[in-house]
Amino acid sequence: MPYPYVLLSAAVSLDGYLDDTGPERLLLSSPADFDRVDEVRASVDAILVGAGTIRADNPRLLVNSPERRSARIADGRPEYPLKVTVSGSGDLDPAARFWHTGGEKVLYTTGKGAERARALGIAADVVPLGDALDWRRLLEHLHDVRGVRRLMVEGGGRIHTQLMTQGLADELQLVLAPLFVGDPDAARLFGPGSYQGGRLRLVETRPVGDVVLMRYEPTAPGTGALPSAADRHWLALACELAAQCPPSETAFSVGAVVVAADGTELARGHSREGDDPVVHAEEAALAKADPTDPRLAGATVYSSLEPCARRASRPAPCARLILDAGVRRVVTAWREPDTFVTDADGSAVLADGGATVLVLPEFEQRAKAPNGHLLGR
Ligand SMILES: NC(=O)c1ccc[n+]([C@@H]2O[C@H](COP(=O)([O-])OP(=O)(O)OC[C@H]3O[C@@H](n4cnc5c(N)ncnc54)[C@H](OP(=O)(O)O)[C@@H]3O)[C@@H](O)[C@H]2O)c1
Ligand SMILES: [Zn+2]
Repeated sequence: MPYPYVLLSAAVSLDGYLDDTGPERLLLSSPADFDRVDEVRASVDAILVGAGTIRADNPRLLVNSPERRSARIADGRPEYPLKVTVSGSGDLDPAARFWHTGGEKVLYTTGKGAERARALGIAADVVPLGDALDWRRLLEHLHDVRGVRRLMVEGGGRIHTQLMTQGLADELQLVLAPLFVGDPDAARLFGPGSYQGGRLRLVETRPVGDVVLMRYEPTAPGTGALPSAADRHWLALACELAAQCPPSETAFSVGAVVVAADGTELARGHSREGDDPVVHAEEAALAKADPTDPRLAGATVYSSLEPCARRASRPAPCARLILDAGVRRVVTAWREPDTFVTDADGSAVLADGGATVLVLPEFEQRAKAPNGHLLGR
């Protein structure tokens, strides 16, 4: 299930357009910002654009700086990031610059699209993903088969919209250019769709020449068993909180965060917090939330360790406290080992109570790190 870190990158006009409708590509970024984009490209394993962008802009998508390319090689990476595109139709121009510049290329497409692309002689590794293109399968393939850990997505609007509405973007790097397009037929950055609710977190603003870079992180938890990129951010925070616990020889160090469906943090906690030598992370966090808060029903609890199913020090285990609070979604990094109790199966208690439990094993090492002295006993 691990996906690459997905970074969306786009420049928009003051009225929110990605381009105009003229035959030439509209230059929205400043020269200084093109250099910043080059730096970001040099930092990633792969760059993805949609087939629409290849048709409209005929881009090369290279790392232009020779120093940055040399640094990649010195780091043991390919000179250029992998170039990735998606097309349902497979109807692509085999002479487009995308295929004939830079390093390796992959085309993700449908079964029919693959036939068409092969017939056209597209110079890329053509990967059919069935009748329809599934972004999660695509990201998994990039991660597992191509070894991509950081993916930069450079548009266009239809690609950005799908990744954002499906909760798959880890970060949005948006550049606001000081000009207007004013043409309702021009491409917009984000189209209609059901976006996961709430506000994104603003992590940076920076003037770059005459444009402004804004970096945002989505915050909304995923729904049901489908993880969102924000789920990974919140679980990473729970693992950081675990590292802040006072050490113990008799209990695990765990961090927990309670997050509403719109991405608002409701509470956080960690084991043995404050003056309580036995309090568990989920218990500490839930104690800070208002029990009458209606947002708890749609909230997700992130816990670095699976919530406990039984405990001696308190009447109710954390799995029960979570259900009693009305929470029905839990994301954790690590199933509880039987170090202190046997058959610790908080997930079963939660599932019996109607909650969805998601384990993201890529965080297991981080969750275990503050507990190394307790493991292998
Ligand atoms: N300002 C910027 O930062 C920036 C950056 C990039 C692009 N742009 C602009 O954006 C415009 C292009 O945007 P766009 O929205 O038209 O095109 P796009 O998002 O680049 O590509 C859309 C195409 O990708 C394929 N695709 C997307 N989702 C798919 C799915 N779920 N299943 C199968 N195929 C899928 C389809 O290809 P097929 O049609 O082949 O099936 C679709 O037509 C251009 O005007 C370009 O200049 C601006
Ligand atoms: Zn507990």
